[in-house]
Amino acid sequence: MSANQEKVVVVGAGLMGTGIAHAFASSGFSTLLVDTNSAALAQARASIEKIFTDGVRLGKVSEEKAHQSLANLLTCGDLSEAAIGANVLVETVSEQLAVKKAVIGQAAPLLADDAIIATNTSALSVTEIAASVDCADRVVGMHFFNPVHKMKLVELVRGLATSDEVVARTRTLCEQIGKTSIVVNESPGLTTSRMSALLGNEAMWMLQEGTATAEDIDTALRLGFNHPMGPLELGDLTGWDTRLSVLRYLHQTLGEKFRPCPLIIKMVAAGRLGRKSGHGVYRYEEGKQVPGSGLKASAL
Ligand SMILES: NC(=O)c1ccc[n+]([C@@H]2O[C@H](COP(=O)([O-])OP(=O)(O)OC[C@H]3O[C@@H](n4cnc5c(N)ncnc54)[C@H](O)[C@@H]3O)[C@@H](O)[C@H]2O)c1
Repeated sequence: MSANQEKVVVVGAGLMGTGIAHAFASSGFSTLLVDTNSAALAQARASIEKIFTDGVRLGKVSEEKAHQSLANLLTCGDLSEAAIGANVLVETVSEQLAVKKAVIGQAAPLLADDAIIATNTSALSVTEIAASVDCADRVVGMHFFNPVHKMKLVELVRGLATSDEVVARTRTLCEQIGKTSIVVNESPGLTTSRMSALLGNEAMWMLQEGTATAEDIDTALRLGFNHPMGPLELGDLTGWDTRLSVLRYLHQTLGEKFRPCPLIIKMVAAGRLGRKSGHGVYRYEEGKQVPGSGLKASAL
């Protein structure tokens, strides 16, 4: 089936749902974005319009293509109405198992018989989410990255019951929306969060031990390995509280190598969460990192 004959329902019009709906609509899919919060729907539509307006201004997309893509996008407050006959459902509601199960449970009987049912969960079990429906073979993880319109990767997550056929069809779907997919068997932290958590934790151990300054650790990874940002800068962006909860989960599930560095625990206790609190490893003023503000080993 070609993209423009397929109907895609994206449930959850938050940060990620906005980007995912944009990806499908701009790739020719008839896209319905659903949320229980009408303000979130209005905000999502405005954000998608802005991505297109910016794209036209920067010459990345033609006015005609932007117009056609916007025409592919509808918003809706009623999941039961939106789900009828849809070929693909991507749920990207808040990260709570009960909410995700309820959404998929409500939509599944209304979708097309062979519909792909995808969840954008970052950390919950796809197998457990799939247990809420009697078509668990069609439930797959589709882990997108933020901001979706810039990030090329989708980690496809195979739950216990996910069929090979559904994995293959979901990979094709990713290609159709211009994304590169990798396939991961359900496992804590998948590939990305698991590696990123380990790298960020190790950088904090080095900072705590006084191996190098924060600035030099970040510069090492940026210039030595071509990472777009250093691990400490990335931790400040993600938030050390989020980092700590991921590390604690990975420590509990995968073992000792993920034991959170005590410096992270200390920073979170001090409220130095990163950019969002204005102070993490670095200090931030008006959203900009203050040069030379990296946490000094002598201050630990
Ligand atoms: N933020 C990220 O960087 C990121 C990256 C990858 C995956 N994720 C995952 O994507 C999902 C969404 O994250 P987000 O950052 O977009 O969250 P968000 O809080 O920005 O948006 C969630 C949206 O879901 C809506 N919602 C909640 N319950 C609903 C329901 N029953 N029916 C319809 N809509 C409902 C809310 O109104 C809200 O608009 C989560 O599972 C998260 O773990 C997030």
